[in-house]
Amino acid sequence: MDYLIDNVQITDLVQIFKLGAFIVLTYLVISVVFAPSNFPKNIPTIPFYVSFLGTYTSMDQKDIYDKYLKEKLEKHGAVKIFFASRWNILVTRPEYLAQVFKDESTFAKSGNHEKIPYAVLSDYTGDNVISSHGEIWRQYRNIITQSIQFPELNPVIKNTEKFVHFLKYAIGDDKHFKTLAVGDFLQRLALANIGNSMLGINFNTLDIEEDSELHKRLKSVKAQIFKPLFMNFPILDILPIPSRIEARKEVANFRKYLSNKIKEEQEKSETKNSAAFKLYLSLKRGEITEKQFTDNIVIILVAGHENPQLFFTSLIYIMAKYPKIQKKLRKKFKNYSFDRLDEISFLNSVLFETLRLFPPLGQIINRKTSRDVLLGSDIHIPKNTYVGYNNFVTGRDSAYWGKDSNEFRPERWGVSNDEIFKNYKISKVYSRLSAFHGGRRACLGERFALYEARVFLKYLLENFTVRLDSSWNDRLTPAGPICPFMLKVKFLKIVD
Ligand code: HEM
Repeated sequence: MDYLIDNVQITDLVQIFKLGAFIVLTYLVISVVFAPSNFPKNIPTIPFYVSFLGTYTSMDQKDIYDKYLKEKLEKHGAVKIFFASRWNILVTRPEYLAQVFKDESTFAKSGNHEKIPYAVLSDYTGDNVISSHGEIWRQYRNIITQSIQFPELNPVIKNTEKFVHFLKYAIGDDKHFKTLAVGDFLQRLALANIGNSMLGINFNTLDIEEDSELHKRLKSVKAQIFKPLFMNFPILDILPIPSRIEARKEVANFRKYLSNKIKEEQEKSETKNSAAFKLYLSLKRGEITEKQFTDNIVIILVAGHENPQLFFTSLIYIMAKYPKIQKKLRKKFKNYSFDRLDEISFLNSVLFETLRLFPPLGQIINRKTSRDVLLGSDIHIPKNTYVGYNNFVTGRDSAYWGKDSNEFRPERWGVSNDEIFKNYKISKVYSRLSAFHGGRRACLGERFALYEARVFLKYLLENFTVRLDSSWNDRLTPAGPICPFMLKVKFLKIVD
């Protein structure tokens, strides 16, 4: 009898478990497929699967934009979109964007450490100057603003010269065009620049004889973090998956390695003005914790090299794709020394046009509403909703950039430097060009990135003729940051 009861109870338990699992699964599916019921009804919903198309099909970000986003976003300026395990509101109309950037207390920054605290990605970058909000953000900014906005620029020239040697070494004695995949070279340059100018350290990424320890470790840690499945579903990092446990360990080791290396260097360094030195000083004074020190060092390394690397990639692509522009710039560079490159009006319009069409950071969703709020005059966004922006979409919006918004036309910025800078400023103020964000939370590294880009182009074009390799498939990255995907370029050394 007892045996029978036990059996009945076990069967019941199994049934209850099955029912529970079914309910949980149904809930999960519903919450992925349908936007929450309290989200605004008067803006469209992008089907949830659109967010995964880049990972699981051959579409790139432009294909996805053309097919699923352009029309809805140009018409409504905001949509409901599924991204990183949750539903969000994506805002692209400049007027709405200006509201989001301006009202910092309502659209409060809430980075990965809050949004997906369980993710390996969040272990990597922590709570830093880009992701934090309020008092903590102000504290970080007080420490590093000056050093990031006005860093030591001389190393950029030396590094770019070394970069050219590195490329020439890779090309060898070839007197014909030689094809190279440019990603690794550009990453080395961007790392060397951020190391010397902001982190007070020489990463030696441009040494020909020996591969830099940092570069090797960074590549390995990035390969662990940017796995498409876990980028799409960071929630999976909660599970005890052996490869993810390993990834977490590797991230911890990398952070420790970087932090120790930076600290050692600050002890010896004669440069007392770098962002790393300022952070080190604050750490020694007990104003910030070890974790806060490392979080900010990591983000300076990450934002400070990845974005310029993407920008360099898009610039070299533009040069290779448009030989006339390449030729015109090469000619202009002859008359300008490094300290006067910003006087070349055509160069400035090429940089701004590249940022418009290829903003390194495409989509960013890291703000959470602190109260119910009205976006524009009639879009009700409930409290605790994640809100983000998409620079790729805003930069191509035909209502602001015209019917030819998808075309690369540097002339649209104007002819004289005055006109070009005025148009650039207006575009930023009115959030029509948001590649560097805007307002109080605007990118601190903009000036540095533009400087690096000018020096990069001068060295590149004075030393090489570049062309696109016909075997390379002309497409953008399928997801995440924006730049031509796995770009291959043909280089021909210019011999004086
Ligand atoms: C072409 C290169 C770059 C682009 C396109 C770019 C873009 C951006 C964008 C879009 C943001 C806002 C992110 C958000 O909404 O959360 C940002 C913030 C920031 N960027 Fe950059 N960035 C670039 C280079 C750099 C460099 C070289 C540094 C140097 C360390 C840097 C440091 C920062 C910092 C510190 C912030 C946070 C500002 C704040 O919230 O107070 N960026 N950047």
